[in-house]
Amino acid sequence: MKRSKFLTGLVFGLSILAFSCQSSPPASAAKPAEAPKPAEPAKPVGKTLNVHMGTPTIDGDMDDAYQATDAIKTEVVSLGKTPVVGEARLLWDAGFLYVFVNVKDPVLHATNANAWEQDSVEFFIDQTNSKATSYRSGCSQIRVNYKNVVSGSSGVPAKDFKSAAKVVDGGYDVEVAIPLDKVSGAEGNLMGFDLQVNDDGGSGSRTGIIAWNDSSNTDWQNPSKFGTITLVK
Ligand code: BGC
Ligand code: CA
Repeated sequence: MKRSKFLTGLVFGLSILAFSCQSSPPASAAKPAEAPKPAEPAKPVGKTLNVHMGTPTIDGDMDDAYQATDAIKTEVVSLGKTPVVGEARLLWDAGFLYVFVNVKDPVLHATNANAWEQDSVEFFIDQTNSKATSYRSGCSQIRVNYKNVVSGSSGVPAKDFKSAAKVVDGGYDVEVAIPLDKVSGAEGNLMGFDLQVNDDGGSGSRTGIIAWNDSSNTDWQNPSKFGTITLVK
């Protein structure tokens, strides 16, 4: 009799315990609320570069201030087997993005009626880093040939843009100040950026295209093909 009472009590006790375990899980086991998913797919960033602050003189000579930023090279070919390569350094301040480019190009030529078929450097900037697939406000394509003739098809800043070019041993240098007219330069800003060098090997038409980021020769239509720069102190 005693033994069966004890067993009944034990079974009752165990079932209460099992029930309470099921019905009230410890607070620590509760799952944290999931972070809302971003509505848009992640934007491609391509190649990246931290650009340091500084204000050079636009004269075709490389100011010491440019040493603060790592050099980038155009190494992505989208046309031809070009021997040409550009090496660039960048700086920024509140009003401008500055780029100094040295192009190694053994044969200088700029006779084609199409400016992009001449020995030249193209600068692509997207001040809001929209990574949009078509040009919008804040996006520009600016071209400077080795004789310092400026051209471009989209958003060429008419006001305050400055450039200088010099023929040097083994090629030419181009230096530009691109006005920041959509977003002022400030620490932490991201901007889309690419650099393209066009090569006329001497025939009077373009035989090579080489860029920092884009491999498809579509920077001129599609800012999502640009790399990304970050403005740092
Ligand atoms: C491209 C050319 C294009 C031109 C238009 C250049 O960046 O390489 O293929 O026709 O832009 O401005
Ligand atoms: Ca050339």
